[in-house]
Amino acid sequence: MSTLLITGGAGFIGANFAAYWRRSRPADRVVILDALTYAGNFDSISALCDGEYCRFVHGDICDAAAVQTLFQEHDFDMVVHFAAESHVDRSIYASQVFTRTNVQGTHVLLDAALSAWKSSFEGRRFHHISTDEVFGSLAPEEAPWTELARYDPTSPYAASKAASDFLVRSYAHTHGLPVTITNCSNNYGPYQFPEKLIPLMILNALTGQKLPIYGDGGNIRDWLYVEDHCAAIASVLDRGRQGETYNVGGGHQIPNIELVGQLCDTIGRRFAEDEGLAERFPDCPAASGRTTRSLMTFVRDRPGHDRRYAICADKLAHELGFRAGTTLADGLARTVDWYLANDAWWRRIHSGAYREWVKLHYGTEPKRSLASL
Ligand code: NAD
Ligand code: TYD
Repeated sequence: MSTLLITGGAGFIGANFAAYWRRSRPADRVVILDALTYAGNFDSISALCDGEYCRFVHGDICDAAAVQTLFQEHDFDMVVHFAAESHVDRSIYASQVFTRTNVQGTHVLLDAALSAWKSSFEGRRFHHISTDEVFGSLAPEEAPWTELARYDPTSPYAASKAASDFLVRSYAHTHGLPVTITNCSNNYGPYQFPEKLIPLMILNALTGQKLPIYGDGGNIRDWLYVEDHCAAIASVLDRGRQGETYNVGGGHQIPNIELVGQLCDTIGRRFAEDEGLAERFPDCPAASGRTTRSLMTFVRDRPGHDRRYAICADKLAHELGFRAGTTLADGLARTVDWYLANDAWWRRIHSGAYREWVKLHYGTEPKRSLASL
């Protein structure tokens, strides 16, 4: 039986991971630490938090005293560190908070783990969740990134994640802290905050808003279904070598414009199969027999927009026997179905609290593609 600290567990991937862990390791104890920023949502984990096997702690990873107290209260075997500011667009317009949370917050956690575990590192693990964006951007003909690719971050978000990766590595090298790192590609699936491409497009489509495609829509991402990501992290926690980095990719490279087209077609098929959807989502073009693709609109490109990301996940496959198994068609269908079935979850986000938060922290209205939220 192990005790895990999951930071950022009320966010998209952290909530999926907490659910995955509770399902697959019911005897383990889980503590979720989350500051509940705009991206954190207690609704995503409330069903898991029984107070005994899974406890929620509302707190900030930058609060060194609170984090140290948490480590004194619980004898954590593992830390799985998801907490971060995670959206590239926000990091373009207000990046200080990215340095604070992603760099300083990671540093605080490393110090707390080191101080709590220093008498013996036996059975301990600090696992850091990072991103493929630390590698920069690939040209069309370039091979996907391996773990040895040079760090070349281009956005303030990616730079802050790169800095946190280096800090984690430095604690392994200098202090012998037992760490592992995973650098994953773009995730999608249930509970993703609708500022990211896939949920934004689904919800805009269902509510009859434009689907804003940046630039020419030719930017390529490598899409990873979130449950595959959770299983990959579990395999690294179980069998990964200390001090190592593992890339996790979905193996599905696709230009944004094609991805959004596929999403529109998936939504159209669901409306054709289920007449009740037209009543629940009357503003979706599919409700009146039109194609949802009619909402696709080109908008001004993101400054510094990376052209292509692609991950080589061979190390994970060869060393740990893990490969992401969900096809893109299946993952997109499951994701659309989840947002169709869970409108109570996202309608609360649409309710206005989100706009207030953005104004308070950034002093502006949400950017154009979020204006419908
Ligand atoms: P998210 O934005 O959905 O969730 C982040 C969570 O961290 C939220 O619950 C938020 O409340 C919490 N948080 C933020 N600041 C905090 C602080 N100071 N103290 C405590 N909690 C805080 O992010 P996500 O998409 O779930 O990403 C999780 C991790 O995976 C991040 O480290 C991100 O960099 C990495 N990642 C994400 C993707 C992706 O496609 N989503 C891809 C690669 C890597
Ligand atoms: P995003 O989900 O923000 O993830 P990341 O920037 O970390 O890859 O964006 C995924 C891709 O979709 C990226 O190329 C930018 C593009 N995009 C749009 O075209 N329109 C949008 O409204 C958003 C949010 C993203």
